[in-house]
Amino acid sequence: KFLGVTARHKATVNGRAISVEPGETLLQAALRQDIDFPYVCRVGGCGTCKCKLIDGRVREMTETGYLLTEDEIADGYILACQSTPRTDVAIEVDLKSALAGNVVRGHIVGKTALTHDISRIDVQLEAALDYRAGQFAELSLSSLPGVLRTYSFATPPSADNKTSFFIRRVPGGQFSTRAVDGDIVGEAVQLRGPGGAFWLRPGSEPVIMVAGGSGLAPILAMLKDAKARGETRPVTLLFGAREERDLYALDELAVLERDWPAFTFVPVLSAVAEGDAWAGERGMVTDYIGKYCGAAGAAYLCGPPGMVDAASSRLRTQGLVDEAIFADRFV
Ligand code: FES
Repeated sequence: KFLGVTARHKATVNGRAISVEPGETLLQAALRQDIDFPYVCRVGGCGTCKCKLIDGRVREMTETGYLLTEDEIADGYILACQSTPRTDVAIEVDLKSALAGNVVRGHIVGKTALTHDISRIDVQLEAALDYRAGQFAELSLSSLPGVLRTYSFATPPSADNKTSFFIRRVPGGQFSTRAVDGDIVGEAVQLRGPGGAFWLRPGSEPVIMVAGGSGLAPILAMLKDAKARGETRPVTLLFGAREERDLYALDELAVLERDWPAFTFVPVLSAVAEGDAWAGERGMVTDYIGKYCGAAGAAYLCGPPGMVDAASSRLRTQGLVDEAIFADRFV
């Protein structure tokens, strides 16, 4: 048994005492004890649950380097959803930053299969939800009360309050199975958000983007938004998928390539059989960062944690600093 991991600890959150069960994160403990702690993703992907460690020590389950600034880390900031206490701890958090206030209702007005396991759902909102392309929201379906999942907006904000999400069927996943396989057109939905700090920063230096699976959603929203704003800087998008049948949104990406001369799309397939006719890049998408990084001054990464972490370390070896690497990861 590791010292600290199996012990129950005490924590104080803004001075209020709570207990933390063995293996429980500070976020789980706070929510269990009815503290309205800010969070969205619960997996170390959004930064919403950041809080300041005033006293004690924690074990951190993931690297926080690209969600927190160097100054924040130096000041003792941690992610509550990724921290389990090693000792009794005291933390401070800005409880006003919770997303709870921004709730908008809507209906599902369309569903399209993008691949064998990813569907696009189109939502008509009843009111405007002010978000930036690249951010995400927490969704709930009226048929699954109490089941909350976060997904990135796949389209930029629009004047008609329509938005879309790409949802991948996760084996055994209640929400995603219902969304991908169920007859959900017409069903009521509720969105809470937006969350996250993943959006395209202004600048003139070339940009590299790396997406995996349904991680294309926020990237596509960013690209469409950027093009609509007349973006001209060079952007290279590496998209990692297993096989050709896992590629999607190719028409939309082709339109972007046609209308934005400095935009380049590079699909990379990791599971094509030898002898297959696929003429594009093969292997792990992160292995192509060196080849396509060029003079990139900023990077935007969205996909599973393993991909995002591998891409971040490749980009650092290419000379990018943490402040120039923006990431959104999900499980
Ligand atoms: Fe902790 Fe998203 S809720 S990083």
